[in-house]
Amino acid sequence: VEPYRIKVVEPLPVTSWNQRLAALDRVGYNLMGLASDEVTIDLLTDSGTGALSAQQLSHAITGDESYAGSRSYRHFVDVAVDLTSYPFVFPVPQGRVAERVLFSALVSPGRITLSNAHFETTRANVWLNGGQAIDLPCPELADLASSFPFKGDIDTARLKEILFGSEGDRVAAVIMTITNNTGGGQPVAMSNLRTTAELCNERGVPLILDAARFAENAWLVGQNDAQHWGRTPREIAQEAFTLADGCVLSAKKDGLAHIGGLLGLRDPALARRCELILIATTGYSNYGGLAGRDLDMVARGLVEVTDPRYLRSRAEDAAYLADLVRAAGVRMVEPPGLHALYLDAGALLPHIPPSQFPGQALACELYLEAGIRSTEVGSFNLGDEGDHGHVVSHELLRLAIPRRVYTRAHLAYVGRAIARIADRADQVTGLRIVEQPPMLRGFTARLQRVAD
Ligand code: F0G
Repeated sequence: VEPYRIKVVEPLPVTSWNQRLAALDRVGYNLMGLASDEVTIDLLTDSGTGALSAQQLSHAITGDESYAGSRSYRHFVDVAVDLTSYPFVFPVPQGRVAERVLFSALVSPGRITLSNAHFETTRANVWLNGGQAIDLPCPELADLASSFPFKGDIDTARLKEILFGSEGDRVAAVIMTITNNTGGGQPVAMSNLRTTAELCNERGVPLILDAARFAENAWLVGQNDAQHWGRTPREIAQEAFTLADGCVLSAKKDGLAHIGGLLGLRDPALARRCELILIATTGYSNYGGLAGRDLDMVARGLVEVTDPRYLRSRAEDAAYLADLVRAAGVRMVEPPGLHALYLDAGALLPHIPPSQFPGQALACELYLEAGIRSTEVGSFNLGDEGDHGHVVSHELLRLAIPRRVYTRAHLAYVGRAIARIADRADQVTGLRIVEQPPMLRGFTARLQRVAD
């Protein structure tokens, strides 16, 4: 059972089919445009959408709002240093701010970053500093059905080739995203992280963890790698941080917070440069653009999240929904991770070509069917020429599961909606873009049904 009981509730919005049809028309078949009270179950993202614990919420009162040297800041530092082992830890408003600050110091024109998979903001921040972000996913990831447990791994053979080849001098950093969000929420094995760390060390290139979902990665390592059986998720997570030279971390995921993030570094010179950028652009390093109460909530969240009972229940939620999806005959990225399921919209809607965005068409159908909001991860969001060379190999639909928010009854409702759509999949029509910005079109582009 869920290792908590519910103390605060809010009503679930309910809409009619006709209201949803009108809403889709109004927002140009882009679910980012919906008002949240038009959405019954919101699986758009697991970022900043979780429920706070009573203890986190108590910090709304006890948070220390002093500009410098606050109790809340010391609390944040104590927890962050204990978790990561990095001597320099800075609070930031969210993950992408840590990326911007770090890459301003680390990436310059002509440099490259290598990763198992850069998240979209990570890629954009490398690019904004004149660099190029290159993904090196492991070959197993290409086969959605493969049950290989660590499909988030980086391809260490390719990594070695580049680090020690003619381009080696251009590499500014290696970024390991744990878990690999754009790659189906798949975890990275500890052995893969260790090999990567050794290669980086040998070449003198910093290894940075994008640790937004560090606890979920640790849970999956503990479950699927016999070498780590019997260890706590916290011990495994601590080891992962120890292997790297620093981290960028969005606390809106495994920080169990609504806002916040962390930049952690070992190198004093790099930390000093980052601190300057942080102070000039975001806030003094004792609060990093956050309120004192946020620092406390993040600190508390970073402790609660490695509770094995919480992580087990979260894994079971994802497994429960995955069983319903499989029973409906819908394929997804296997094995399911914790934060989201990635349905194979391309396989479910083979009559819709990638140029008509099967993932986005399925997202709109799921909204129309049951008021469920999700995100496309395919040609619509990633295939944008303006977004600098992301290779789109699959047309996926991500159902992200907010932390501590929905019960299994809510998930059963989602499963039933998917089964109904699967029954009439051949009637779902494709979409075409009628308006789009030069990059990041997933946020603002407008679409139409091709039949209209
Ligand atoms: N890294 C990863 C792996 C992420 O998934 C995200 C955000 C970020 C960095 C950026 O962090 O949002 O705090 O600035 N992912 C969200 C998502 C938006 O829906 O997957 P942020």
